[in-house]
Amino acid sequence: MTFKPACTLDDIWEGDMTEVEVDGRPILLVWPEGGEIRAFQGICPHQDIPLVEGKFDGRTVMCRAHQWTFDAKSGEGVNPKDCRLAGYPVRIEGETVLVSTEGVAALFAHT
Ligand code: FES
Repeated sequence: MTFKPACTLDDIWEGDMTEVEVDGRPILLVWPEGGEIRAFQGICPHQDIPLVEGKFDGRTVMCRAHQWTFDAKSGEGVNPKDCRLAGYPVRIEGETVLVSTEGVAALFAHT
């Protein structure tokens, strides 16, 4: 599994989310409160809206378009429940946040 640098720990803090690009893919990095940094597909599975434009309350990510909401630790859909975000493996090395996109495809409700 090949991990590539996504950002540094200066670019994200606990309770925050940001978008990065790895292997040409938009990736949403979220750091849930009391948890560890997670990486998910950057585009909402409903339609083509960047999730970073939505809201993150420390627990869930809400898309700005139609308020689909996802658990920031698991990527599972909170509302609606029959959707989820594809997650990418994350590794922290020193100050660098690395992500692997190998074998992971974004999920979309309309495909
Ligand atoms: S595009 Fe995200 S909820 Fe509709």
